[in-house]
Amino acid sequence: MTAGRILIVDDEPVNVRLLERLLQSAGYGEIATTTDPRRVLAIYRDFKPDLVLLDLMMPHLDGVAVLGQLKAEIPAEAYLPVIVLTADATAEAKRRALSAGARDFLTKPFEQFEMLLRIGNLLETRRLHVALAEHNRSLEETVRQRTEQLLQSEKVATMGALLAGVAHELNNPLAVVSGQAQLLHRPNQDPSVQHRAKRISDAADRCVRIVRNFLALARQRPPERSRTMLKEVLDGAVELLGYELRTDSVEVVVDVPEGLPVLWADPHQLHQVLVNLITNAHHAMRRQERPRRLSLTVRHDTAAGRVSLAIADTGAGIPREIQQKIFEAFFTTKAQGEGTGLGLSLCRSIVEEHGGVLTVESTVGVGTTFRIELPSSWTTRPRSPRCWPTRSNATGTPSPSRATARSRWSCSSASPSTWSSRTRRCRCSTGSASTARSRDGSRPSGGA
Ligand SMILES: Nc1ncnc2c1ncn2[C@@H]1O[C@H](COP(=O)(O)OP(=O)(O)OP(=O)(O)O)[C@@H](O)[C@H]1O
Ligand SMILES: [Mg+2]
Repeated sequence: MTAGRILIVDDEPVNVRLLERLLQSAGYGEIATTTDPRRVLAIYRDFKPDLVLLDLMMPHLDGVAVLGQLKAEIPAEAYLPVIVLTADATAEAKRRALSAGARDFLTKPFEQFEMLLRIGNLLETRRLHVALAEHNRSLEETVRQRTEQLLQSEKVATMGALLAGVAHELNNPLAVVSGQAQLLHRPNQDPSVQHRAKRISDAADRCVRIVRNFLALARQRPPERSRTMLKEVLDGAVELLGYELRTDSVEVVVDVPEGLPVLWADPHQLHQVLVNLITNAHHAMRRQERPRRLSLTVRHDTAAGRVSLAIADTGAGIPREIQQKIFEAFFTTKAQGEGTGLGLSLCRSIVEEHGGVLTVESTVGVGTTFRIELPSSWTTRPRSPRCWPTRSNATGTPSPSRATARSRWSCSSASPSTWSSRTRRCRCSTGSASTARSRDGSRPSGGA
């Protein structure tokens, strides 16, 4: 079948049948016809033709008037070729038809091959026009996105340069506040002092995370890659935030298959990403009714050469209209003083620096899933990874037999001492986040 929808408009039924048969024999399968020019507009709206064959001399409404109607209906940038069919071969008739918007004309009686040739040419021109318009639309969209990215990085660069200086200066006094608060938080202290010290320490930790995010964004350093076990980075982040999650009765389900490839990545940056995403998920669930569940699921797609990590929560969800905005620097829905709006922007830039993508799927009232996909193509099988060794298995070798290491903590009603007797992993997580430190002894980085 030849492509192209054609509308035939002629008050003579014989002419209409003749044209229809001719077009069908040339392979055109989508044809609409009318002998009443007053119906053209309605048929156009319904049938959306790619080309119109239009008689000029008709009762009620002549061809020029129909052309006027079509012109008013169709946007100027759309290209709908109309071939006028006329028995009037005068130059005046042709001039009227062309100035009313016809693309071509044929004088009756016409040669069949000539008509088919003109139809073919005009349909091809329309096809190219449509393709060009589509291409232009996609180029405009690309320009829009790039401009947005550019504005975004300008915004980050300007704010970043300013804030990096301030953030740097804040580091030292913050370390003093945090250290002193930890000294006050001793077991033999008066409970009210302990409580206050804990609050100071938590607030100082949050400031440290904010400062780190600012600095990381402002510096935008490339990843310092090494052999990285994703499971260990994940365990490190969960361990760091475990106390806070348990305090708010969040059930954490970790699902990591055995035999994951070792990634060639920056473990500290990935840690930062996970801490941000998990903290966001935690915040989103805090004001929700229970059950509160955080699922961390890793998958390896060998064929695609990608490792994915889904961070799914049962929180409030994100309205569709802001789902892309949340990745912009300084975009936050949190109350003033609660969020800087830098977490996701930092996460996305880190993941993209690693050649990966960070996406979000969310349904309001149901929950949100952030998905990190990282390339695994440059990876090797685990040998003796140096980064982020797990506490349960310090050599980093996969634990025996089970294909999937799946741990589930349901700590809603348990006291810290109950958790510590359950599994070793839970015991490792009972330390307060405010006192947790990463392996190299530095303070935890990241924060949502
Ligand atoms: N898991 C989630 N569920 C619901 N909303 C989320 C989730 N993660 C992020 N958001 C939304 O995205 C916004 C931006 O997140 P982002 O981490 O960039 O900044 P923030 O958490 O507001 O502040 P901070 O800089 O302290 O991280 C949040 O304010 C929140 O509205
Ligand atoms: Mg955040």
